[in-house]
Amino acid sequence: MNDGLFGSDWNPATVMNTTNAVYIIASVLFILGMKRLAHPSTARRGNQMAAVAMLMAVVVTLIDRQIVQVPWIIIGVIVGAAIGLTLARRVQMTAMPQLVAVFNGFGGAASALVASAELVRETDRVDDVAAVTIMASTIIGGVTLTGSFIAFGKLQGFVASRPVLLPGRNYINAVLLAAAIAIAIFLVFEPDTLAAFAVMGIIALALGVLLVIPVGGADMPVVVALLNSYSGLAAAATGFVLGNNMLIIAGSLVGASGLILTRIMTKAMNRSLANVMLGGFGVEDGGGAAAGGAVEQRPVRSVSAEDVALVLSYARSVIVVPGYGLAVAQAQHAVRELADELKGRGTSVKYAIHPVAGRMPGHMNVLLAEANVPYDELKDLDEINSEFDRTDVAIVIGANDVTNPAARTDPASPIFGMPILNVDNANAVVVLKRSMASGFAGVENELFFLEKTMMFFGDARASVEGLVREVKAL
Ligand code: TAP
Repeated sequence: MNDGLFGSDWNPATVMNTTNAVYIIASVLFILGMKRLAHPSTARRGNQMAAVAMLMAVVVTLIDRQIVQVPWIIIGVIVGAAIGLTLARRVQMTAMPQLVAVFNGFGGAASALVASAELVRETDRVDDVAAVTIMASTIIGGVTLTGSFIAFGKLQGFVASRPVLLPGRNYINAVLLAAAIAIAIFLVFEPDTLAAFAVMGIIALALGVLLVIPVGGADMPVVVALLNSYSGLAAAATGFVLGNNMLIIAGSLVGASGLILTRIMTKAMNRSLANVMLGGFGVEDGGGAAAGGAVEQRPVRSVSAEDVALVLSYARSVIVVPGYGLAVAQAQHAVRELADELKGRGTSVKYAIHPVAGRMPGHMNVLLAEANVPYDELKDLDEINSEFDRTDVAIVIGANDVTNPAARTDPASPIFGMPILNVDNANAVVVLKRSMASGFAGVENELFFLEKTMMFFGDARASVEGLVREVKAL
């Protein structure tokens, strides 16, 4: 024990009040920060507010509980900030889901370890309520730890990203879950049976692996959002174990927001969470054809940069529809240059953003923001869909599934019912992609065969750069 920042002379009631006051301020900052994350123009400030709140919460907890001395807190903050800063600066935007997966994994592990330590420390004194929350935190934290690291491995390419479908996997998972819950109930009554506790922990770790391996690599962002929610739940449970209000509030916020995000993503794909988690859906980029589906032989209208530039020179309104291929090609800066060139000639340019375009939530917003595309030109699906039939040219850049009219018209299509951007309503459509390969859902896109559609084949960045040159030369 040390005297902490508050010193030995401090009245415990004053310390408790100060701590709770800081917790309340931090909680308000978390909530306001999250609200600001909802819009690109305020997101940066929201993130900073939440980071400050987290710093306040960590520092005041360490001081209040007299866990370490102030110099160690300062050293910890500096070392942690240096690691965080390096990671944040180095990580590519497209690798963000991996980073979040790792953070979730550590969050789950921390909750499970703290709860386990509490059980080991308080074996004789742990009451029923504390025992229930310790078991919940350990199971959820364990699943989150290994599940997140499998998700990280799949996204990073360390683990095969294709769905691994073990025979009878749903039964195995159900049996393991039932066993973990049965041991947890036993432990509530017999908390000093540490061997049973270890078995329960191992089952939770195994469940994390088994729940995530059947999910295809490209569905991982949904799994990461769900695991994010789990890490919040584990933290909230640990908050109950420790009697720490801050942890309960922060954990609940993460749990709820992760679940809402998961719901938004599955809704925008028109899939249920069960459909995602049971696995086997989706193939990696272009894999629909590569994985055995025949590439469509019907003729399409293939055009050159010069042809597209000519069409654009007559257009008064253009809608750019970005997708996953734009992210792969890193074409955002070239797209901004093209838009500037067109706007300079009096053409109106807007961007149509589908909620699940790309491979992670907000993927297109982040990329376009990086290229300083003005926020007010980015239009959501609901906002822009009625505008396509008044638009001269829709330029689809590396997007596929989110423009597929089969989602509206073909009940047999796996993406039937998914809300899509009604690109086919524009007067003319230009599609930039490398080949006729399918997108994430592995289905053919009727849009490419329409009379009004021009296919401009090539890497999106090289193609847009070529277009900029041609438009400038006109
Ligand atoms: P996709 O349907 O996946 O299509 C992307 C297209 O980009 C491909 O057809 C590919 O065709 C093309 N492409 C790839 N690299 C390219 C490059 N270097 N240059 C030009 N084109 C390139 O993408 P989308 O329309 O954005 O739809 C997203 C899909 O991902 C949806 O099915 C969605 O449900 C799913 N998904 C999204 C999320 C989130 S949160 N965004 C999460 C999980 C799954 P080529 O190979 O012919 O070039």
